[in-house]
Amino acid sequence: MIINSATIIYFSPTGTTKKVLHAIVEGMNMDNCNYIDLTLPNKRISNASPIHDDILIIGVPVYEERIPKMLYPFLISLKSSQKLVVLVAVYGNIGEGIVLNELKDITEKSGFKVVAAASFVGEHSFSTKKVPIAEGRPNHGDLIKAQDFGQKIMKKVQTINDLKEISLFIPEGNLPLMAKILPKNSARIFTKTPEADMSICNHCGVCVKLCPMSAIDKNTLKIKESQCIRCFSCVKKCSRKAREIIYKKKFLVTRILNAKNKEEKEPKIYL
Ligand SMILES: Cc1cc2nc3c(=O)[nH]c(=O)nc-3n(C[C@H](O)[C@H](O)[C@H](O)COP(=O)(O)O)c2cc1C
Repeated sequence: MIINSATIIYFSPTGTTKKVLHAIVEGMNMDNCNYIDLTLPNKRISNASPIHDDILIIGVPVYEERIPKMLYPFLISLKSSQKLVVLVAVYGNIGEGIVLNELKDITEKSGFKVVAAASFVGEHSFSTKKVPIAEGRPNHGDLIKAQDFGQKIMKKVQTINDLKEISLFIPEGNLPLMAKILPKNSARIFTKTPEADMSICNHCGVCVKLCPMSAIDKNTLKIKESQCIRCFSCVKKCSRKAREIIYKKKFLVTRILNAKNKEEKEPKIYL
């Protein structure tokens, strides 16, 4: 099978998922790529246009071991008549949860054929200088693996004559007890709303423009608590460092994160 065009869909408030997907696409060496960036709310319509390109690549970060919940309406509305799809989950070295399984279920129900999948590690959204979690990931080695994954996808696709031949096994992910019992958006229990220090802020408005939930008031720069998902895009994109990540229940949170972050995890590839 020869493929010439790709649609690439991603959500990436702090940029690690985007980096991984770009490296995969580079490895695939496709001529015609159409990107759909779901990071800002105006792109997350719940009635996606049908995918016309030869292959779809979807990349999402892992939030509370699942797909970030604001993405479900868009993802469920994707339509295809027997197109190939590649699934990518990027997680903060704590746990990749069931994201690949969820993406597989959703896309197969919409008529896609899952040809490849992978999980990669990205710097954790809650990572700070004092509590670094997967700092600097994806690193050079991760990006080389992502490019290599892209090349292998193309090689696999070339060997396919009929879509019926494709059957990809993705192991059942693990949903830890914490993820089952904690309420949705439990990130709010563990971290404070990252309000701006107005003595440092120069009111440039970058945080307002880039907030994936439109949760920041453009005049006061205050965050609407109920809308904030703690992605910390506003912290990481602020050139003046006017906002910071502050843990609530610091001792407990640091202990949990450090325990789960002990071992540096590696990308996993399913082809
Ligand atoms: C609300 C929230 C929940 C998260 N939950 C998990 C998790 O369950 N496991 C994990 O390893 N990382 C988790 N992360 C970290 C992100 O998956 C990780 O930092 C990812 O690289 C962010 O992608 P981005 O840079 O494209 O935004 C979470 C991040 C946020 C903001």
